[in-house]
Amino acid sequence: MEKMWAGRFEKALDAKADDFNSSIRFDYKMYAQDIKGSVAHAQMLAKQGIISKADCDKIIDGLCGILDDINSGALEIDMRSEDIHMFVESELTKRIGDAGKRLHTARSRNDQVALDIRMYLRDNVSDIVSLVKELAGTITDKAEECKAVIVPGYTHLQRAQPITFGHHLMAYSMMLLRDISRLEDAVERMNLSPIGSCALAGTTYNTDRRFEAEALGFDGITLNSIDGVSDRDFCLEIMSALSILMMHLSRLSEEIILWSSWEFKYVELDDSFTTGSSIMPQKKNSDMAELVRGKTGRVYGNLFALFTTLKGLPLAYNKDMQEDKEAIFDSLETAKMCLEIYAPMVATMKVNKDNMYRAAQEGFINATDLADYLTKKGMPFRTAYKTVGEIVAECIGKKCVLDDLPLDAYKAHSDMFENDLYSEISLETCVEKRISEGGTSVGSVESQISYVRGELAK
Ligand code: ARG
Repeated sequence: MEKMWAGRFEKALDAKADDFNSSIRFDYKMYAQDIKGSVAHAQMLAKQGIISKADCDKIIDGLCGILDDINSGALEIDMRSEDIHMFVESELTKRIGDAGKRLHTARSRNDQVALDIRMYLRDNVSDIVSLVKELAGTITDKAEECKAVIVPGYTHLQRAQPITFGHHLMAYSMMLLRDISRLEDAVERMNLSPIGSCALAGTTYNTDRRFEAEALGFDGITLNSIDGVSDRDFCLEIMSALSILMMHLSRLSEEIILWSSWEFKYVELDDSFTTGSSIMPQKKNSDMAELVRGKTGRVYGNLFALFTTLKGLPLAYNKDMQEDKEAIFDSLETAKMCLEIYAPMVATMKVNKDNMYRAAQEGFINATDLADYLTKKGMPFRTAYKTVGEIVAECIGKKCVLDDLPLDAYKAHSDMFENDLYSEISLETCVEKRISEGGTSVGSVESQISYVRGELAK
């Protein structure tokens, strides 16, 4: 295929080099953004008198025809093209002749590609934000179902204090709210148009960059043409936000995998989201959660690949930057796939509240409450803490729990103990009395649920 830039060369590009150089295999995904950008560019050129109204009409007609034909399948994108920008321009010229050759006035592929990626990311990140909202809604619904389900809370993966399972799940809803705000924030900062920066230095034509930016839904324009074509910060920001989102999904996955094990048996994933083993007939594996945990690694990897690509690049555009697209497309697609599987997996997950309660009855997770009982009766907290430590040791020796130790045994440690200690250290009391804002009581979890629902409805 003859190159548009062939004029300066005596020999054609080596076939392998041509293939190596080409980005059409992945940048074809930006065809709609590329065409929309070109429509706005033609309109700007005509408005400024740089091309005629008649040429502009032909260009727009031609571009709209190309868009329709790609969408309907009537036009196949030629994978021998150098990139999507070259493909659209040469197809346009094929269709409308010389007018097509005027489209690239006062622009370069350097600002064109910078524009296309921003538009592509804007569209795709908005899909991801909707999916994160859906997942946060699903987790919040599950939390409401489980707002009174008692389960051990852990620190160091050791049973620590009783909490409600709803409270635990709401922690993930809070994380997802931050993910949404990080993604929206990155898009807001990115939403400036670089088109009109041209190759790097701007142009001698009397262009109107702000008109083009507004036509394409940008909030403004980039203010330094060298930065306009060299900047990929917005890719890094979005990939960082996606990495943090994946880290959250990965932590939840790790917990779901643990909770599904025979050792915990707190939850059971639906058959439709689990798989069996080719040899062990009894197995039911949490493959989806494991894959999400696994795919987190590649989303981190994409971020670091692009960081590394950019770190030594002199200004302005360098071909290295073509590497940005595979990395960020993969991160977007991976996150999207994980989110699509996650909401229904959580929605269909069965919660085994009896096993959770049984686990909460063991492990002395009401020991803090016993110490607080003495403290409220006037004993200094440190002394109460030590006394309860000794009582726990006694229980371990006697193979019983705090709730079963008789009152006279308690009295041997302190005469402050009375019969009311048993109701004070019941799991229900431990949970219900944690009314501090953000705490585990049912009322507090209900406020968290309504806060999250309010944010999601915005
Ligand atoms: N395919 C290129 C990319 O994705 C487009 C920009 C090419 N610019 C250039 N001067 N070769 O980065």
